[in-house]
Amino acid sequence: MDYELHSLTPGFGAEISGIDLTADAGGNLAADLVGVWRDAGGMLVIHDQDLSSEQHIAFSRHFGPLFGDPNEVPLQDTVSRYIHPDFPEIYRVSNQVDADGEPTGRKGAGTYWHSDVSFRDRPAQASILHGKRVPPTGGDTIFANQAAAYEALSDSMKEMLAPLQAWHDFEVAARTQYAKPVVVEDDMAGANRALHPIVRTHPESGRKSLFVNPGFTSHIDGFAGDESAAILGFLYDYCIRPEFLYRHRWREKDLVIWDNRAIMHFAVMNYTDDQPRYMERCTVIGERPV
Ligand SMILES: [Fe+2]
Repeated sequence: MDYELHSLTPGFGAEISGIDLTADAGGNLAADLVGVWRDAGGMLVIHDQDLSSEQHIAFSRHFGPLFGDPNEVPLQDTVSRYIHPDFPEIYRVSNQVDADGEPTGRKGAGTYWHSDVSFRDRPAQASILHGKRVPPTGGDTIFANQAAAYEALSDSMKEMLAPLQAWHDFEVAARTQYAKPVVVEDDMAGANRALHPIVRTHPESGRKSLFVNPGFTSHIDGFAGDESAAILGFLYDYCIRPEFLYRHRWREKDLVIWDNRAIMHFAVMNYTDDQPRYMERCTVIGERPV
């Protein structure tokens, strides 16, 4: 494999230029890139990929089964309108509408700190987002390295957090981030609610990371509401300190892959509808966090 690999921040993230996945989306190159991604702490940017949706899916399956794959679970019903009509594995993010006035994707997706699908018993591992159309400036995505955040805590704080578990619930985002008529009430019935350790261990690297996020985490199990809010409030302020962040400025045709098990992200919505932004995401189903 012959390409240019650059580090994005110390110990977190890499970017690659000079490869063409269209030639080998399902082959050895893709398998090698899974290793590059792991070595980069689960944050990889691959520039200049002119992938079709089929090629994006074929590449993504190297990371694991996808939400929406045959015989696998889909994402929550509320976002079903944003799934690609021809490819159930693809979730669309867009600020545009089609000729009938239907949105061509979720507008303003992820404008809060979160880890994708953390409200499921088996949350997302990799998210693989393809920027097919991006504004000249604006619409950056910010990533926060939760393994580095965990490691920088004091030993006393690590000890205090070790036995704690928190509830993650799609309802937290549904009530605050989605317009009322869009939310499918069935999504609140329990299938999108899960209890996870606050500190999880990565199954491949063995590294520990913080695993709570303001987008989906409702409260710490067994704590009074104000106690939970105080601890989570500290963690939310702490875990997005500048030294833990990488801010991605999108170029058209970027393929950005992050590991939701160890990274939170935030989509900055500082662009307008006259600046088209269209992205497609494949989301890899992970394991139950431990
Ligand atoms: Fe997201």
